[in-house]
Amino acid sequence: MLIKSLKGWEIPESLATPEDIALNRRTLMTGAGAIAASSLLPGFAHAAGSADPTAGLYPVKRNETFKLSRPITPEKVNSKYNNFYEFGSHKQISRAAQALPIRPWEIKIDGLVEKPFTISIDDLIAKMSLEERLYRHRCVEAWSMTVPWSGFAMRDLVALAKPLSGAKFVRLETFQNKAIASGQQAFWYPWPYVEGVTIEEANNDLAFMVTGAYGKPLAKQFGAPIRLALPWKYGFKSIKSIVRISFTDTQPVSFWEKITPREYGFWANVNPKVRHPRWSQAKERVLGTNEEIPTQLFNGYGEFVAALYTDKEGQQLYL
Ligand code: MTE
Repeated sequence: MLIKSLKGWEIPESLATPEDIALNRRTLMTGAGAIAASSLLPGFAHAAGSADPTAGLYPVKRNETFKLSRPITPEKVNSKYNNFYEFGSHKQISRAAQALPIRPWEIKIDGLVEKPFTISIDDLIAKMSLEERLYRHRCVEAWSMTVPWSGFAMRDLVALAKPLSGAKFVRLETFQNKAIASGQQAFWYPWPYVEGVTIEEANNDLAFMVTGAYGKPLAKQFGAPIRLALPWKYGFKSIKSIVRISFTDTQPVSFWEKITPREYGFWANVNPKVRHPRWSQAKERVLGTNEEIPTQLFNGYGEFVAALYTDKEGQQLYL
């Protein structure tokens, strides 16, 4: 079967040449002239957030608890280098992603909660206290970036949902609309994109629901209007453009886990010592500079999250 011949990240990895070209292009694009030229692109104009009803809410106050040890990745770099398989299995999806309509946008909260409900993104944002956090992001493909995300604590979303005591996991789901997201026409992928965390992980200080970046509403290629950021886990856990959040007693099976369970597990915590079956995780390439730096356990966030896993020895915590 076709699905068996696909090996998860093999597709993007096999596109290494375009990726290199893209990175070189990024290095060239640091000139002021290039910035002016790129800001004329239609996609870039939308990324600026001009049409978003929440534009006036940003920038929001930075939470200084979360510190970076390296510079923020320039917006023009990572807004042109994205993983968003709904719009293609390569990195240059930013233009295609502008086709995603982000209003109206409703999020269904269901499963093991006191009372399931549906809420619009604007009503949800209005209920939450927004802040900015500087986070590292380590992709399983061994590249990394640092981003000023804006949003609210995932813990506040859990509180709003009022889960029942039997709820052990949170399952999150991305929109599905193959008329606008051509990647979803690839029938061998198990759409919609799904991810999941335990309730304890969702309530951890670091788990962050992202509604903005770089002091503006979230650009579509970043997963507008709402995505997750779990900076201690490989980037594929940080699901984009969420439409459904379900509370469940069953461990969710994620999109990538369904495709290649041998390579992508439920926990996916960053660990430089545990190889991906096809490549080392010891180092990461920093987007923007292309510098190679050592990867840290839990992506450097051990002080926040290590305690979540002390009773889980024997499980594949780093795949
Ligand atoms: N969410 C959805 N719905 N679809 C995706 O393809 N890719 C994941 C994650 N969330 C993905 C997704 C992966 S592999 C990474 S590394 C990050 O999004 C990339 O986020 P970025 O494009 O903002 O860098």
